[in-house]
Amino acid sequence: MARVHSKTNKANVKNVPRRWRAEVERVLITQAQLARRIQILSREIERDFRGRETVVVALLSGTVMFLADLIRHLDVPLRLDFMGVSSYGAGTESGKLIITKELRLDVRGRDVLLVDDILDTGKTMTRVLSILRALKPRRIKTCVLLNKAARRVEKIEADYVGFEIPDYFVIGYGLDYAERYRNLPFVGVLHPHIYKETAPPAAKK
Ligand code: PRP
Repeated sequence: MARVHSKTNKANVKNVPRRWRAEVERVLITQAQLARRIQILSREIERDFRGRETVVVALLSGTVMFLADLIRHLDVPLRLDFMGVSSYGAGTESGKLIITKELRLDVRGRDVLLVDDILDTGKTMTRVLSILRALKPRRIKTCVLLNKAARRVEKIEADYVGFEIPDYFVIGYGLDYAERYRNLPFVGVLHPHIYKETAPPAAKK
């Protein structure tokens, strides 16, 4: 698994497009690194899922860019469905998880690949896994682009991980702060002044 260097250097500060420099401190993972790593991840997944009727379950909304890039490389027969999970009372660590969109496809007896953008405290994935397991799939594998192990609360690891990242507030490539920055083509570190000046973040990213 790829590890991301945590040092700030001139190159990754300079890599931030001028338009974003006031808000984005630096680039943590470049577009090229994302593309390379996702190709490798999809090869690994393909090997494990070859010939299996697979249901890809993606969690809204942060997963959109990663999901699109991952599945376009996945040469397995798959169906795609989404679940929405959101923490209520954002800004508090105790934010209760609510389901905002339920699964529509039947996963009973199927192979499921659960895809999310980031594994942080692990609360979201733990909750979703218990919902999915009750639906009796043949097996469930989990895939996340980013793993922030430092903040883990639940005992959970993903089967496929794109990058191990340090405990920074990351945005871009689908990840948001207050619903913004999802459209950045790279994963960046949010300038602390942004979340210090506004309401506290969802205590997650
Ligand atoms: C984010 C992210 C994961 C979850 C990870 O979702 O997309 O689903 O938090 O955090 P955890 O491991 O601490 O549970 P968020 O609720 O912010 O929604 P979003 O995907 O719409 O941004």
